[in-house]
Amino acid sequence: MVRLTKNISLRGYNSFGIDATADLMVEWSDAAALRTFLAAEGAPLIAQGARWNILGEGCNTLFTADYHGTLFHSTASRLEVVEENDREVVIRVESGLLWDTVVAWSCERGLWGAENLSAIPSSVGATAVQNIGAYGTEAKDLIQRVEYIELPSLEERTIEGSDCKFGYRESIFKRELAGRAIITAVHYRLWKLPCPKLDYGTLRPEVERIGEVTPSAIRRAVESIRSSKLPDPKVTGNAGSFFVNPILPRHQVEGLKERYPSMPIYEVAGDPERLKIATGWMIDTLGWKGKTLGRAGVHTHQALVLINTGGATGEEVVALAERICREVEEHFGVRISPEVNIL
Ligand code: EPU
Repeated sequence: MVRLTKNISLRGYNSFGIDATADLMVEWSDAAALRTFLAAEGAPLIAQGARWNILGEGCNTLFTADYHGTLFHSTASRLEVVEENDREVVIRVESGLLWDTVVAWSCERGLWGAENLSAIPSSVGATAVQNIGAYGTEAKDLIQRVEYIELPSLEERTIEGSDCKFGYRESIFKRELAGRAIITAVHYRLWKLPCPKLDYGTLRPEVERIGEVTPSAIRRAVESIRSSKLPDPKVTGNAGSFFVNPILPRHQVEGLKERYPSMPIYEVAGDPERLKIATGWMIDTLGWKGKTLGRAGVHTHQALVLINTGGATGEEVVALAERICREVEEHFGVRISPEVNIL
């Protein structure tokens, strides 16, 4: 099914709770129907020069004005097992399902791999675009392949996870395939044998407190850590981390570490010449936690998260983000950039 709504309010479609509208929303629950639509009456919507975008759960998008174009939103949500053996299960999940429903499904069955990615507000499609990550796991560790509709040809394509050029919050869908792919389904590989990853931050003590090492217990531990640090978007508008953590040359980070011995730094897998630093720590060190600028603010428990304190416009959030970027650059000599997609 394909459903069209003109002049739609986006308030319920973005976790910042920004009150903007879109000229047109195309919601689709079936990839074949979407292709048929785009081949016929929908063709002008994606023709050269037309403005369009894909909106997942709207948890990583900030609208700074009304959107004069078309937003495509998947409501396709089937989950099926496509392969199973003694060691693993592969599931195919359509792009509109809430990612956390997949994690819950997996943990309930005692399958391993997804539990550290609990409670991330994301659609399944966005897990592949963003390579979502938390507590030492990234979506790329699970993604076996991705199905998408290629534009403008409207061909159905499949790309293997190993070809998706996944990196830290990076993928081919943000680069070469940006504007050329509508993701329809993602295949995830889950493990039957225990493979807990408990080394990030306070995860291990939280799991020890719960008293068992199962996917469900780890899920509960992650939920508990996240809810203590991150605001619930149903209560306070936000989009999780507003900025990404910069990955910088090792010598630059070593210089920073000399000046700021308590600055947290992280190795980057497969890249010994570069290190990742914590933007949240820098913003916190500058004293921004809990502060506001207009109706936008910095979350009290996690400085990487910008919030809508009530009625903020997208522009107010951007003004705060720009001010923070400027101060971080002046103080630390580091340029930070948003993780959030600003439209
Ligand atoms: N820190 C501070 N003050 C702050 C925030 C962080 O000092 O206000 C310090 C922490 O103490 C820690 C370090 O900075 O030493 C890193 O903080 P944290 O572990 O909270 O992780 P993060 O780098 O701030 C990233 C992801 C989160 C993910 C967590 C846990 C990005 C952009 N964000 O945040 O993802 O949940 O790690 O793995 O990489 C998201 O992308 O929306 C998101 C929430």
